[in-house]
Amino acid sequence: MIAGRYCRASINTLRVCSSAIAFRPTFLPSTRTCISRATAPTLQQTTFANRNFFATMAIETPYVTLNDGNKMPQVGFGLWKVDNATCADTVYNAIKAGYRLFDGACDYGNEVECGQGVAKAIKDGLVKREELFIVSKLWQTFHDYDQVEPITRKQLADWGVEYFDLYLIHFPVALKYVDPKVRYPPGWFNDGKSTIEQSNASLESTWKAFEELKNKGLAKSIGVSNYSGALLLDLFTYAKVKPATLQIEHHPYYVQPYLIKLAEQHDIKVTAYSSFGPQSFIECDMKIAADTPLLFDHPVIKKISEAHDKTPAQVLLRWSTQRGISVIPKSNSANRLQQNLDVTGFNLKDNEIQEISDLDKNLKFNAPTNYGIPCYVFA
Ligand SMILES: NC(=O)c1ccc[n+]([C@@H]2O[C@H](COP(=O)([O-])OP(=O)(O)OC[C@H]3O[C@@H](n4cnc5c(N)ncnc54)[C@H](OP(=O)(O)O)[C@@H]3O)[C@@H](O)[C@H]2O)c1
Repeated sequence: MIAGRYCRASINTLRVCSSAIAFRPTFLPSTRTCISRATAPTLQQTTFANRNFFATMAIETPYVTLNDGNKMPQVGFGLWKVDNATCADTVYNAIKAGYRLFDGACDYGNEVECGQGVAKAIKDGLVKREELFIVSKLWQTFHDYDQVEPITRKQLADWGVEYFDLYLIHFPVALKYVDPKVRYPPGWFNDGKSTIEQSNASLESTWKAFEELKNKGLAKSIGVSNYSGALLLDLFTYAKVKPATLQIEHHPYYVQPYLIKLAEQHDIKVTAYSSFGPQSFIECDMKIAADTPLLFDHPVIKKISEAHDKTPAQVLLRWSTQRGISVIPKSNSANRLQQNLDVTGFNLKDNEIQEISDLDKNLKFNAPTNYGIPCYVFA
């Protein structure tokens, strides 16, 4: 996200089973299970949570294999704007529903509560730590080489975990350090109000610190977010470890086809954020989002969703997953959270994918300037 406090609010996938699915009993319809019957245990071996899961879903969890060999669930849960008061329960219930990837960040201000949800799920036997894929991000006030490891360790402590599965540079801009004792999360403004102050940290030095996090096992994979093609090309000149993933705004109004092509050429997996386009930013009272027709109501999306008997949200997510792009939708609703996970088991036609891609307006919502923040990182 840009800043929580300004907002109130080939297919190259390898099918691997999540633990909940691995416990799928053999008597259930087998159309979409991904476990061999030889290994499927009886219902007695399942936990209550798993039985509840079976009652409502039988969703395969596709994984993508990253360029470092690690496997990442293709569908995850986004944690931006998940309220602190309900966050632990939301994470717990999302795990119960079958989510295994959680996309967090320092800036979302809810890492402690996310960790509480994870801890309860592990304690209750819903899942093991190694079955989860926890993502977090470095905020730009911590880009200075010497600040990267300490803040990563603080974020790990907040989550209550020993490693992140993936740690990303959140935005390609370095801001002056703010001591967590002064303000945490720090947001964009050095004084907490209106002053943007740059740091001299280069992206190269920050990436070097990231490579060391990976070497030390604090992050199993490392990646970047909100990078342009030019920044990726520059990174390739100095990186010893290539980013495993690139997380970008990606929806039919902001398709960025050449950036995706560049990432693919370098075996960097793309994760789409804000898959529903303006919807997320309406919650932030962003004018250009309010002035843009909702993708959910767009005649092209509605027509395709009716043809497949899926919701517009599912079609928007499938448009990405079918092209090998990962998604991390956020929902505070139990029903929507569940439907957002069911976005890999049906196929759009090639012409439908093209029709959706043709809605491109090169319209980016998630830029600081759209929130009135005078930081020109995307100028
Ligand atoms: N790297 C970055 O800079 C960056 C920036 C932005 C986001 N992200 C990550 O990407 C995640 C997702 O992006 P996002 O939160 O901006 O937006 P999003 O997932 O595209 O949209 C969330 C909005 O859509 C609604 N929604 C969710 N599922 C729905 C469904 N099935 N039908 C109808 N409405 C639905 C949600 O409302 P309800 O909650 O009421 O369902 C909420 O208003 C974030 O949570 C965060 O983890 C990263």
